[in-house]
Amino acid sequence: MAKITQSISEAKEILEQDALCAIPTETVYGLAGNALKSEVVAKIFEAKKRPVFDPLICHVGSMEQMAPLVKEIPPKAKLLMEKFWPGPLTLLLPKTEKVPDLVTAGSPLVGIRMPSHPLTKSLLEQLEFPLAAPSANPFGYISPTTAVHVETQLGAEIAGILDGGSCDVGIESTIVGFEGEETVIYRSGGIAKEQIQGVVGKVKMGSTLSHPDLPQKAPGMLESHYAPNLPLYFGKAEDLLPKLKGKRVGVLSFKKVIVGVPREQQEILSIQGDIVEATQKLFGIMRKMDGRKDIDVILAQKFPEFGLGVAINDRLRRASKNH
Ligand code: TXA
Ligand code: MG
Repeated sequence: MAKITQSISEAKEILEQDALCAIPTETVYGLAGNALKSEVVAKIFEAKKRPVFDPLICHVGSMEQMAPLVKEIPPKAKLLMEKFWPGPLTLLLPKTEKVPDLVTAGSPLVGIRMPSHPLTKSLLEQLEFPLAAPSANPFGYISPTTAVHVETQLGAEIAGILDGGSCDVGIESTIVGFEGEETVIYRSGGIAKEQIQGVVGKVKMGSTLSHPDLPQKAPGMLESHYAPNLPLYFGKAEDLLPKLKGKRVGVLSFKKVIVGVPREQQEILSIQGDIVEATQKLFGIMRKMDGRKDIDVILAQKFPEFGLGVAINDRLRRASKNH
């Protein structure tokens, strides 16, 4: 069973012994291991039951730790790092031979980010190697935002969990890469498109399918992902409720209570309409709803399609492909 600890040195010891340790980041908890050793990286895929075509992000604590992993850093990538690192931004950059092919699923590009959570930042600074870490959930399920979420599902598979409280951002990092001169967002996340554009100008919303060098089924490219066990419907309550007649509906919404559904079956993410608060709570509330015995389906209302709302809608849309 995983040991839950708040001690950086305990986490460090576990990782130095080539075992797996979950780590807190500002986005979601990661399931970490030594990124430079294929045999350790293989354990991550196994613990998560993740298909090996889905590559892992490398986490670094400093620019010095990143340098040996990448061949070159395009000027726009540099600008983005200066602005958003440490923070919820992953960059796809050409990898060196130091990065095992298993980490990138055979792609010549590696996803790299520098997390800002103080415990993990400090852990990374003390380690001699970067950490490969996908979100610490079984493949396809909702990402974890507390140590207890990790323990419940992966506690038996891993050696330790570094407990850093609940995640500040609550949704995964934004993944950005480059196609020629173009900056492309492959996964929306904790840094909004508008913020990226503020630094590098126009960006394209892309999928890895549009890039010849990227693994075709990543990132989070799989249609059903981030999904609860209960069927989740995504859209407008007025359109969906008539279709769900006869079912006990649990409503997940941004700020408004829905007429026609008992109040105790509704989860409002932010009464004040604060998108940051709503994002922080999203995955925890989805897990809680998934555990309820008094509802049959989840109806998730669409969020305003800008800022963090774009990333939330992306996750809810994918979660809704589970039925
Ligand atoms: O916020 C985050 O990004 C969290 C925390 C733990 O850092 N990590 C995370 O990892 O969300 P994961 O593995 O659950 O999702 C990362 C996505 C995957 O869908 C993967 O396909 C994509 O990033 N990815 C990673 N490396 C890639 C690469 N070299 N090329 C294309 N996609 C990549
Ligand atoms: Mg994930």
